[in-house]
Amino acid sequence: MYVLGINAYHGDAAAAIIGDGQLVAAAEEERFNRRKHCAGFPVESVKYCLSAAGVSIENVEHVGISRDPSAHLHKKILYAATRAAKGVGALAGRAAAASGEKEGKGGRGIFGAVAERLANSAKVRDLKDDLAKQLDVPKSQLRAKFHNVEHHRAHLASSFYVSPFERAALLSIDGFGDFISTMWGVGQGNDIEVLGQVEYPHSTGIVYTATTQFLGFPHYGDEGKVMGLAPYGRPRFIEEFREIIRTEEGGRFKLNLDFFRHHAEGVEMSWDEGSPTIGRIFSDEYARLFGPPREKTDPLTDRERDIAASLQQRLEEVGFHILRHLHEKTGLTDLGLSGGVAYNSVMNGKILLNTPFERVYVQPAAGDSGTALGVCYQIYNGLLKQPRAFFMEGAYTGPEFTDEEIRAELELSGLAYETYSEREVTRRAAQDIADGAVLGWFQGRMEFGPRALGNRSIVVDPRRANMKDILNERIKKREPFRPFAPSILEERVGDYFEQTHPAPTMLMVYQVRQERRAEVPAITHVDGSGRLQTVSRHVNERYHQLISDFGELTGVPVVLNTSFNENEPVVCTPRHAIDCFLKTRMDVLYLGNHAVRRTAG
Ligand SMILES: [Fe+2]
Repeated sequence: MYVLGINAYHGDAAAAIIGDGQLVAAAEEERFNRRKHCAGFPVESVKYCLSAAGVSIENVEHVGISRDPSAHLHKKILYAATRAAKGVGALAGRAAAASGEKEGKGGRGIFGAVAERLANSAKVRDLKDDLAKQLDVPKSQLRAKFHNVEHHRAHLASSFYVSPFERAALLSIDGFGDFISTMWGVGQGNDIEVLGQVEYPHSTGIVYTATTQFLGFPHYGDEGKVMGLAPYGRPRFIEEFREIIRTEEGGRFKLNLDFFRHHAEGVEMSWDEGSPTIGRIFSDEYARLFGPPREKTDPLTDRERDIAASLQQRLEEVGFHILRHLHEKTGLTDLGLSGGVAYNSVMNGKILLNTPFERVYVQPAAGDSGTALGVCYQIYNGLLKQPRAFFMEGAYTGPEFTDEEIRAELELSGLAYETYSEREVTRRAAQDIADGAVLGWFQGRMEFGPRALGNRSIVVDPRRANMKDILNERIKKREPFRPFAPSILEERVGDYFEQTHPAPTMLMVYQVRQERRAEVPAITHVDGSGRLQTVSRHVNERYHQLISDFGELTGVPVVLNTSFNENEPVVCTPRHAIDCFLKTRMDVLYLGNHAVRRTAG
């Protein structure tokens, strides 16, 4: 039985397909159409998933999407009605925008119109119609049963059904999806019971995004930059942030809405085919507390660093507040974590130190793309009660290319290349890295989720302090304050880091042991931390071998791993990799067992 899951009309559009409960393929649309975080309908991802499974859409039995416009409809209408009664200006579209509708701009401002619009939004998009059109198949040929899975239920499912846990506490936390920002519950066997939620307009993700905008980082997905900036500052504005977002009993929290525009004036959003854009969320009250917003091109000062540090601390406080409540309610010590805020790897790394949780599972696509995966399992395990039989340990669910395909691309490029044996290739690459090369490493199946985990990676020597600058100057052009991350052999984590809980998807930040920091300066952030990937042989044998070989040469079982891209989405095909190699000043490119070296001049 095949189940196809889709995240569409929302950032990070993606598709996933499972066959008899096994995850066959999952990928983000941006990798195919080369538009970062793109929204719209993930037609290329769907086509890829079907071809990877070797089925046509006519043979798929269930199709689901991670949105349910009818979810919480009464709350949306009530919210709109209350605001209308209070005489808050134009309203239409706002609540709908929070639930992921296409636009959130201006509107009619009449309660009746709002209610009507919200009710209609439940019917506006017909997934079956869209899918048939996009795949150019007559609608009558689609025999699948179609499902709407509420956004946060899809998140929760993605963090539980593919986890190793029979029973676990679950938390999904993000900006908004289907009118909800935060949902928690408990998973047991084939069931997920929701225990609590926080509704629009209150959201930790919104606070983080609003502050990110205020600090002069306007793009969708820029929140990670602020997380990287935070360790340079002091949390001297923590009281201000405690005023901006307050915790309440029962694991809940509330925004001080004076600081935000999304609930009152509305914020422009676009969820079209391109990269999502979100208008200004913070209100003028931010300026009253912190002074004028920083413009993108203004220099960064202590004020920005301290705001970032305060925001990060407050996010952690609120996150732990929810998690302690969740533990209290469930008594469980295993946690499945999901939602866009689960990309805050700094917070994640501190969960084990600050809450009673002992094991944390964060699926590699913890954000919205992963809801495509959650939809599949919510249908298969949750709805159809089929047995759970899949544990997602790696992230390698994307396209792969045969040796013939890689050779054909190399021939086409006209570049000279050498071919090594299976055993030799990692030794050669390890030697290149140890010699200081900037090395493109393209192997096997592409990763699902934002992190390159050793199949679409740029790998360099972490012992060289200047590697950060070299990478930025030659390829990445990132802000100098942003850290680069390490990949380490799982069996050696304790030698280098203060915590040893596995982090196979690079979504945990731990402290590098004091005595090791000088040894691996290129991956040690200003506060002594590192966002590590723990690599085990059974999950990625070739990458494990590469790091082992590097360890044998240098005594250091760690490499610096950054995603294989310049500024665009991570490369998907050999052609993308070759283009990136040619465009940048990478020294050597490994494609499978073949290596292309940059020649002098
Ligand atoms: Fe989400």
